[in-house]
Amino acid sequence: MTASYRIAVVVGSLRKGSHNRKAALAMKTLAPPELALDIVEIGDLPLYNEDLEGEGKTGPEAWVRFREAVRASDGVLFFTPEYNRSVPGCLKNAVDVGSRPYGKSAWSGKPGAVISVSPGAIGGFGANHALRQSMVFLDVPMMQQPEAYIGGAAKLFDDKGEPASEDTKKFFTAIITSYAAWVARFARK
Ligand code: FNR
Repeated sequence: MTASYRIAVVVGSLRKGSHNRKAALAMKTLAPPELALDIVEIGDLPLYNEDLEGEGKTGPEAWVRFREAVRASDGVLFFTPEYNRSVPGCLKNAVDVGSRPYGKSAWSGKPGAVISVSPGAIGGFGANHALRQSMVFLDVPMMQQPEAYIGGAAKLFDDKGEPASEDTKKFFTAIITSYAAWVARFARK
């Protein structure tokens, strides 16, 4: 079956062993067939600076590539760590880059969801809601339920980086299945 919806996945951690990236890759595998999940990389995005675009300038190539990938998607799915009770700077930068030039945000109207993953006990609650605040402002309908605050992440994955238990797989499947329904409800096509 060909997927009906292409989902841009944004992972707010740049490190190789990232728990968030492992969760993203696991959900890509567990997603129902109507969703095709693809990670859009953000590690090469220069910090947003208004001076780099406008007046005939298109901005750095990496910004253009990122915005095109988001625009071409039918939905946006975020995996975020929590840094100091908020989102990591690389992720906020990606949100800002996607939101400009003014009036041409790539995010508008894309059905979204956020999954926060942390080794800590509260599962990145602060980062999860900080990101919701920005995305709601950016006219992204963010999935309200189920909420996904994934704590204790250091124990969730095996040596291959895959979910270590059937319970984890079931939980991930429930989240991504709910998101598929959310996308079907709000996607603009
Ligand atoms: C953290 N970490 C962290 N964890 C948390 O639950 N709440 C927090 O506020 C913070 N703050 C924080 C700040 C900074 C600068 C770093 C580097 C780390 C720990 C963080 O959850 C941990 O490093 C995760 O493993 C990061 O996610 P990835 O890279 O595994 O996806």
